[in-house]
Amino acid sequence: MSLVHHSVTLVVLQEPEIVAAEAAARIAAEIRAQPDAVLGLATGRTPLTVYARLGAMHRETGLSFRQVTSFNLDEYRGLGPSDPTSFAAYMQRELFGRVDICADRAHLPDGLMPPQQAAERYEAMIRAAGGIGLQLLGIGNNGHIAFNEPGSDFASRTREVTLSEATRNANAPDFPPGALLPETALTMGIGTILEARELLLLAIGARKADALANALDKPPSPDCPASALQLHPRVTVLCDRAAARRLGA
Ligand code: F6R
Repeated sequence: MSLVHHSVTLVVLQEPEIVAAEAAARIAAEIRAQPDAVLGLATGRTPLTVYARLGAMHRETGLSFRQVTSFNLDEYRGLGPSDPTSFAAYMQRELFGRVDICADRAHLPDGLMPPQQAAERYEAMIRAAGGIGLQLLGIGNNGHIAFNEPGSDFASRTREVTLSEATRNANAPDFPPGALLPETALTMGIGTILEARELLLLAIGARKADALANALDKPPSPDCPASALQLHPRVTVLCDRAAARRLGA
């Protein structure tokens, strides 16, 4: 099923695997149309299969990231690329190490730099690259996008944020047992995300159903950061049936 939901095109697919295949196909099409595309990338469980598919497309079809520039949404404060729980390490494992992207064009916010300096530098790098073309997004159980937790201003820019209890609980399985989770992170702001030319949000599973309904079926409000997507002219939401089950209720 595909329909226009407010300004957002909603595509409900049968299975999580089909969501991943469709997302990978759209990212590959963007790169084929524009080999020096500027992509916005996300971490988390949702894009894992998307990245595996892009790696396979690189190996099997020659899809090349050689001229691609990428900017990730966020990084934990205090974690550098050598820490396996950093988002930089995740991206290396799941995507960058599987394709031919140039290391100096694959960017994440710097979790080790003083936060204000890291944030300003990141915004400047995005501007210098000509802005983000296609931005991939996930959605938190609490409606967050990137690490913009409920209450975040829709005009917010890249900055240091305090992670909510809900987010820290959701991400705890990514850390070794007994490890202390970072309390803060650097994240692109909602205003930064809304400046990308196109947004592609993925939502998989029943635990995303309430957040997705709040994002798409209610008027935009900082209570649900993902509802800011309704303000963007070019958004596609790809979700499976479980994530869609509260839509239109
Ligand atoms: C990741 C990010 C987060 C996740 C969201 C969903 O870079 O910014 O907003 O997209 O927390 O996470 P998963 O996919 O693990 O359910």
